[in-house]
Amino acid sequence: MVEKSTELIHGQVVRKDPARLRLTPNLQDFEGLRKTFKWSDADKMVEWFPGGKINAAYNCIDRHAKGKRKDKIALIYDDGEGNAQTFTFGQLQVLTNKFANVMKKFNIKRQDRVFFFLSRSPELYAGFVGAIKYGAIASPMFPAFGPDAIRDRLLDSGAVCLVTDSALKKRVYEVKSQLPELKHIIIVGKDVAENEISWEKEMADASDEFDATPMDPEEFSYMLYTSGTTGKPKGVVHAHKDIVQMHLSTYWVLDVHEEDVYWCTADLGWVTGVVYGCLGPWSNGVTQVGLGGRFDPERWYKTIQTHKITIWYTAPTAVRMLMAKGDDLPMKYDLSSLRALYSVGEPLNPEGVKWAMDVFDVKPFHDTWWQTETGSILITNFPEMDIKPGSMGKPLPGVEAAIVDEAGNILEQGEEGSLVLRPGWPSMMRQIWKNPAKYNEYFRNGWYYTGDTAQIDKDGYFWYVGRADDVIKTAGERVGPFEVESALIEHPAVAEAGVIGKPDELRGNIIKAFIVLSPGFSESPQLKEDIQKFVKTRLAGHAYPREVEIVKTLPKTRSGKIMRRMLRAKELGLPIGDTSTLED
Ligand code: WT7
Repeated sequence: MVEKSTELIHGQVVRKDPARLRLTPNLQDFEGLRKTFKWSDADKMVEWFPGGKINAAYNCIDRHAKGKRKDKIALIYDDGEGNAQTFTFGQLQVLTNKFANVMKKFNIKRQDRVFFFLSRSPELYAGFVGAIKYGAIASPMFPAFGPDAIRDRLLDSGAVCLVTDSALKKRVYEVKSQLPELKHIIIVGKDVAENEISWEKEMADASDEFDATPMDPEEFSYMLYTSGTTGKPKGVVHAHKDIVQMHLSTYWVLDVHEEDVYWCTADLGWVTGVVYGCLGPWSNGVTQVGLGGRFDPERWYKTIQTHKITIWYTAPTAVRMLMAKGDDLPMKYDLSSLRALYSVGEPLNPEGVKWAMDVFDVKPFHDTWWQTETGSILITNFPEMDIKPGSMGKPLPGVEAAIVDEAGNILEQGEEGSLVLRPGWPSMMRQIWKNPAKYNEYFRNGWYYTGDTAQIDKDGYFWYVGRADDVIKTAGERVGPFEVESALIEHPAVAEAGVIGKPDELRGNIIKAFIVLSPGFSESPQLKEDIQKFVKTRLAGHAYPREVEIVKTLPKTRSGKIMRRMLRAKELGLPIGDTSTLED
């Protein structure tokens, strides 16, 4: 069945005519390179310190500030209200140096965890990159997080320093007493309490001079928490060496050229924002745009027009939301600067690829596939490659991907199975923070298991099928059912909760919660709303259940584990499958 439906799509290949491409793609002869490429070739693209040391932040900023890009614009920060500020590589060098000196003044140690809970702002970029330059492990948190999500991350990582602002700090103080290791809170803005540190004052006092700390390539640069099937979010830790692959993938896939104006719409709280909305493009010396504020179709089109954006990296849900707004809106703007479009995070519908070709003057979206754990794009549609709308494309040179069965045997083309990768690419996560058992779970039979299922067609294109686990992808964001269930049962009316992803046309999936009420509570629309609001404020704006269903009991295994698989089967009218472990 599946093979047949993809065959249909296979008939509609987007062919690339080299004569129509505005610039010659950086990656030429993809098939040839797949045979000859070695990762040691990529090492030469970044700058190293004597003795095999490296610093990712140095490669993003100082390397350019010391050379011919000193006065080139590195960041155009647009607050979304019509105010734009620009920063050259030289200016960012000063700001990141200053922040590194602030770290030094407060005696932050090498590899200490320094977290950022800030909306997108020049301070966020300067602080994040400055902390990496200093040798701390930097971690941005999504500004929509509530107190529970903040506590889980700061507690597990043992963060010693947090940079936040006057508006967001309230949520931190709700859980501050549970965070004994958090010593320093730096506040951006005016409302600075006595036990807090003023960003403005310290940055003004700090010296402009700082030499990036030479790091062992395996020392850590950043960490991000991400969700799995079980347990709380886990800390995925990345090394300075990642910069090699961040650099190369930005160069090959996003195809940045010297004159490009590049825009990645992801927040720095997600890995796309860190890797392709900050470090990767800057390592290549590219001008990038950072847009503040919330998603808004008009503002997005205006951003492209105002800053003459040439490369645009976004997510399928955003594409679908733009599509839903209609084709008249984009026609009002001059979007002719656009040269190449990319998307990531969830499957991109063929309609999205084709819609873009109509609206953006024959430019299709290029789907890219990767994960927080993989640290950079591993499977993708390249600029020079024909696109099969709906396919994730092909593995990068240097990356071996396959589809395997339960036992780890490689499956034939067209067969559905687990998407696995051969370990050994430079931007691979180095550990799950303080949880080696979790880390080891990813590896079996000599493969890294992505948690996705997929298939490969006769031309070597990869097609996403779904998740092999209970992880929910909602609007491209990764949510673990356990986190939502944990937040739900903190509500007094909730006795038990089971959470699944329910397919949704716009968001890919929405979160649906099945709830058993505590004695004394009865179902009402108000109660449901109250429960939803509770999760929204405690956990995160994007992680609350848009649908709540009250049930009498939840299907459980004899050991008491909620069988989400059965909830999903019932919801979607699928076969229930093996119930031998069911409680009753
Ligand atoms: C999961 C990783 C790293 C970028 C943001 C997501 C899903 C990612 C695609 C794609 C279908 C995709 C997978 C993957 N995913 N890209 N092009 N097509 N699914 O990072 O939050 O770590 O999530 O996102 O399920 O395993 P993440």
